[in-house]
Parts: sequence; C-alpha cells; structure tokens
Amino acid sequence: MKQQMKQAIELHINGDTHEVLVTPSDTLLEVLRDKIGLMGTKRGCDLGTCGACTVLVEGEARLSCLTLSVDAVGKKITTIEGLSEGGQLHPLQSAFVENGALQCGFCTPGMILTAKAILDEEAHPTEEVIKKKMAGNLCRCTGYKKIVEAVMIAAGQPGGKA
Ligand code: FES
Ligand code: FES
Repeated sequence: MKQQMKQAIELHINGDTHEVLVTPSDTLLEVLRDKIGLMGTKRGCDLGTCGACTVLVEGEARLSCLTLSVDAVGKKITTIEGLSEGGQLHPLQSAFVENGALQCGFCTPGMILTAKAILDEEAHPTEEVIKKKMAGNLCRCTGYKKIVEAVMIAAGQPGGKA
C-alpha cells in the first residue's frame, strides 16, 4: 500500500486554533473526531447520505465526511461543541430539548447545525423551507415532526408548536 505523506495544518474550530498532522485524504470528520477529540460530530454513513456529520464551514452546512481537512484550512469551522455560549445552550439546542425533538441524539448535532445555517440565512423560514433544507439529515428514531417544530420554535414562529 502506498504511504501518504503527512503534513501539518492549522484548523480554526469553535474559536480555537488546532495544529494537526494529516494525510491529503483525511476527511474533516476523521480529523475532528480522531485527532482533535470533538466527538459531537457523528459518523453515520461516511458516504454523504445521512447528515450526521454536518458542521458549519464559514457558516454553511457541510458534510464533514465529504470534506477534506486540507480544504478547511483558513476557514471558520463550527461544531456542535461551539454552539453554546457562557454555559448557555443555543436557542436551537434548548428548543430541541424542550420540544422532545431527540431520542438517541445521534442525528441531533447535524440537525441543529443544519438548522442554524438555515436560520442564519433566513430568520423566519416557512415549515416547507425547513423541511426541504433539512431533507438531507436523517433521523431513525424521533420522526421529523418535532424536529421541524423545534426549528420553528427557535425561529420564534408562532406556528412552531403543534
Ligand atoms: S456521515 Fe457524513 S453524511 Fe453520513
Ligand atoms: S434522535 Fe436518534 S437518530 Fe435522530
């Protein structure tokens, strides 16, 4: 097997700078979990089909299993660990908890980061827009109704709670 050369890169994650040794084929997901220890980003399919590995790169939702770590150099990366501030949950996190929008929680970091990207782009999206933009995030246990409701509640939408 051909050995890949390792190189040192710096990644800006949740306001901190991390220097890591990577090969050209290391994905951002592998680096976050296996080299930096940020286990909130989940490895589901590792194929780009479940959304569990979603993080924000420059504010946009990205599948970290399909993103090379070297392509994230110089960009602002946000994982679920970077969402709370001063010990306070982000409003999306609170809405998910209070609305029962999670069970095992495996899909939740990806769901919440996708939702954050949606709300950062459009403060009051319709239910249809939320459903459409979150279609790539799969949940095997909660169902999607409470998840969509939670995003609407976080957005201050009066129709959020059924
Ligand atoms: S682990 Fe990346 S999309 Fe499933
Ligand atoms: S809460 Fe279990 S997969 Fe979504």
